[in-house]
Amino acid sequence: MEHAGSIAEVRARLAPVRREGRGIGLAATMGALHAGHGALIDRARREPDFLVVSIFVNGPQFERRDDYEAYAIDLAQDLEFCRAHGADLVFAPSLQEMYPREQAASVEVAGLSEGLCGRFRPGHFRAVTTVVAKLFHIVQPDRAYFGEKDWQQLEVIRRMAVDLNWPVEIVPVPTVREPDGLALSSRNRRLKAEERAVAPLLYRALQASRDCISAGCVSAAEAKEAGMRLLAPEPRIRVEYFEVVDAETLAPVERISGPVRVAAAAWVGGTRLIDNVEAKAP
Ligand code: PAF
Repeated sequence: MEHAGSIAEVRARLAPVRREGRGIGLAATMGALHAGHGALIDRARREPDFLVVSIFVNGPQFERRDDYEAYAIDLAQDLEFCRAHGADLVFAPSLQEMYPREQAASVEVAGLSEGLCGRFRPGHFRAVTTVVAKLFHIVQPDRAYFGEKDWQQLEVIRRMAVDLNWPVEIVPVPTVREPDGLALSSRNRRLKAEERAVAPLLYRALQASRDCISAGCVSAAEAKEAGMRLLAPEPRIRVEYFEVVDAETLAPVERISGPVRVAAAAWVGGTRLIDNVEAKAP
């Protein structure tokens, strides 16, 4: 496995790969790699592509400084992780390499970026789509892999690629969970023991909503209530949003007729967790 820190090195390394007609895959990460990232890389490895993993903690997408600063990564450990999962090249640029001066250009996906997490994290998705656009220009991948845990991010990136005619296939990768259901996230390691113990309730609440929908409940308010009933009695969990949305447009749904996503964000102590599940009317 090779390791590059500069954009020039990545371009120089990928030019012959492209000339040989080999496809290129990209798994974009912010490091602190765990089994959820492992699933992205393993899914990408199923293709014959040359696989690039990027590791870059994208400062502008953190609206809170403490969250950014808590995002500590161990590059040596992450490189070992990528090697073990069979990546071909790791691109781990510095902040200076990605943002040598104040960035005047940005990419924004209107509408899709505004609800759910977008309501509580102003500017977050613009920073995500901007850095992903930069990575797409640097790597020019044929396929790029994003986890379903960040459903809104996945849909926003899908829409960016379609609207800007990017010849890249956006491949969704299912959420990886702990045995008790908690979705893997780099933020889980910040949970104190008693917070970790209650954190899986978020997934259980989403499942309760989903079960309500698959049992024939067509009212989103009722489905939401089925989930919120589990969370409300737990003082260590503060729900930021719990919504039933159209799986593609992310618009809130009132009457459920097609496939929807039940998505939630909640604070468990000082840690913000997000999760979502697919739900279908019977
Ligand atoms: O999902 C993430 O880890 C980040 O949002 C991404 C896509 C790497 C952009 O910084």
